Amino acid sequence: MPTWYESQIIKDLMPILGARAVRGLETNFFLSRIYTGKSALLKVARYLEATISKEERKALIITDSFTKKFVKNVEDFLKLIEMDYKIWSGVLPEVPVSTIDEGAKACNEYNPKVIIAIGGGSVMDTAKMVMVKYEKPKQNLFMILPSIGAALGLRQKIKYLIAIPTTAGTGSETATAALITDTSRDPPKKVEVVHEELLADITILDPEFVKDLPPFLTKATGLDALAHAMGSFTTNWGNPYFDATNKTTIEEIVKYLSRSYKYGGKDIEARSHMQIASTWAAFGSYGNMAPGINHALGHSFGKIFSVHHGIAVSLFLPYGITFKAKVTDRWIELCPLFGIPTENKSRDNLLREFIQKLKNFIHSVEGSTCVKDIKEPIVSKQNYFEKLDKLVDYAMNDAVTLTTYRPINEEQYRKIFEYAWDGRFIDF
Ligand SMILES: [Fe+2]
Repeated sequence: MPTWYESQIIKDLMPILGARAVRGLETNFFLSRIYTGKSALLKVARYLEATISKEERKALIITDSFTKKFVKNVEDFLKLIEMDYKIWSGVLPEVPVSTIDEGAKACNEYNPKVIIAIGGGSVMDTAKMVMVKYEKPKQNLFMILPSIGAALGLRQKIKYLIAIPTTAGTGSETATAALITDTSRDPPKKVEVVHEELLADITILDPEFVKDLPPFLTKATGLDALAHAMGSFTTNWGNPYFDATNKTTIEEIVKYLSRSYKYGGKDIEARSHMQIASTWAAFGSYGNMAPGINHALGHSFGKIFSVHHGIAVSLFLPYGITFKAKVTDRWIELCPLFGIPTENKSRDNLLREFIQKLKNFIHSVEGSTCVKDIKEPIVSKQNYFEKLDKLVDYAMNDAVTLTTYRPINEEQYRKIFEYAWDGRFIDF
């Protein structure tokens, strides 16, 4: 089923509505209550105790088979405030629609007042959609419009959606968006659902939940956060709030991602900084703005070739920024964050130096910047070029295509995919 953002009228209107001078100053500012650090769980428990009557204290914990092990971290706090709870651990990667229905069924059987999502992006996004289906069973998930469309009228049954991320990168905990997979399409398509009522009410950033994140997920989710912050800084939905947060986020990631990747849980300082950076990156992109075409390219590529979201969107980050550089100088403001002096250089040389530095950074944590170098999984040249039509089609119909600084067409998407095979510099 097509989504609202695949409509031609919306696509035609966006270059006008999306201009920075117009859209940027219309950008909303949605943020959860964020509790950070070792005392976060206790503070939230006390808040729930004070605001939910004893009879209504029922929480459904949503998690998956891997992140279920973290439930023990919250159990003592729930017992402390006499909150009854049940665990539903049926979340699957990529959020197929069938699992959302299963989660809603678990809600209907238990009638919780609180949903606690413990996990990565798929868990958070499933929890958001389960909440919608529980509260509004007839709601078509693919036709949820952002706030200009209509209010959803959630929080009639659920008082708090609580997000506890166990990765540092997806940022779904502070995002108004959820990515789900429409399995009725062939191949299945990742679809973005955006509405401010999907935002978690409370986010808990406790480093205990991320300290043992394996190296691959540390780099993939960290690179996703970088793609959020850099992609959003160079799109046309910006305003001074998000320019500030995105710049700080990029600085933090440049400083702490390598350490976090290299030392893992032994470097809790780097872990904590990456945890805050990824939440901040989502706040400055999916939460309130849009991360730009590298996310459209990455969504399409990741879905068709089963590449991790963070690896896919960071691969296309240099291409997305170079494509936009034709019509904006916003990338120049990011040069100092990568230690690049901007004086006495031609614009073209500066751009090439900036893009090379960005690629070097991605390589420094063993990310990829061209398709032929991807290791997880290896993609053959023949297979890649055979799927070009589908790659272009999915990218073209991705929601974030509406918000690039420079409008893009199918032919340009095709060229970017072709250039990305072996890492050519975007010259059009
Ligand atoms: Fe992302």
